[in-house]
Amino acid sequence: MLVLSGSDEASYEFAKSLASSLDVSHVKITEKVFPDGETYIRIPEEALKSNDVIFVQTFAPPQDTAIIKTLLVVDTLRDKGISRIRLIVPYLAYARQDKEFLPNEAISIRTILKALRYMGVSELYTIEVHKEESLKFFEGNAYNISPYYYMAKKISVPENTVVLAPDVGALKRAKIFAEVLKTDYDYLIKERDRVTGEIRHKPKSLNVKGSNVIIVDDVISTGGTVAKAAQFLRSQGAKEVYVIVAHALMVNGALDKLKKAGIRKVYACNTLPKINDPIVEYIDVGPYVAEEIKKWL
Ligand code: R5P
Repeated sequence: MLVLSGSDEASYEFAKSLASSLDVSHVKITEKVFPDGETYIRIPEEALKSNDVIFVQTFAPPQDTAIIKTLLVVDTLRDKGISRIRLIVPYLAYARQDKEFLPNEAISIRTILKALRYMGVSELYTIEVHKEESLKFFEGNAYNISPYYYMAKKISVPENTVVLAPDVGALKRAKIFAEVLKTDYDYLIKERDRVTGEIRHKPKSLNVKGSNVIIVDDVISTGGTVAKAAQFLRSQGAKEVYVIVAHALMVNGALDKLKKAGIRKVYACNTLPKINDPIVEYIDVGPYVAEEIKKWL
């Protein structure tokens, strides 16, 4: 077995940590972009010596380029006779487009997962996909690795803390966290305008006065969800607000939004390119993913 990865920093660093935990070699692909924008990849000869390849590629922005790169790599590995191609996508982009919210929208995650399977991915692993049910679109074995148990063990939490989900969809995530920390947990009622993307929290009485709060979610994209939740919690008398997410995408000025909302710290997994700001602290989940993968060796 060996670990092959994209050469972008996030995929490379994740794969390095994974390979060292699995005690196998790690090789990166050669990649470049042609002047017209097309993607070029080449697989080093040494990666073709094993018949069992784990390819690591995160779908960080620009997601479409990362997906094309993955399809090119998987097809090439298959063409070179590799029989077992396991794909680890630390951050699975498009997972939030998992149904028709408005009529005739594309169910984009279905298209991506079908394409990966068709191209020859034997097994797929990802970290905290938006909704686990969407992995059914991959017609083979697909595994979602939830990092919250591991993350909860890695951070130190102040006394008098409550765990909150920013919407009902994130409640099961908050529950895992609260169980490890032995704290109470609850959720907010969020409404998002499907056209403008605007978020509102419905009034709900919460017992957070004088408490520290940890908001647990799967992803911070524009930061709107957690920033609004933090503002709401502060209006209810919460002290410090911390955020735990699997994926810190941080697009469209998210960092500023979080700072303005008074968020003390964001803990995120190393599934995406790192943001160099002391507010964000990364937890390397490579060793945890290695342990999970060993279950399916
Ligand atoms: C929504 O259901 C997700 O779990 C996240 O809460 C959401 O996608 C985060 O996006 P943003 O940071 O743009 O609010």
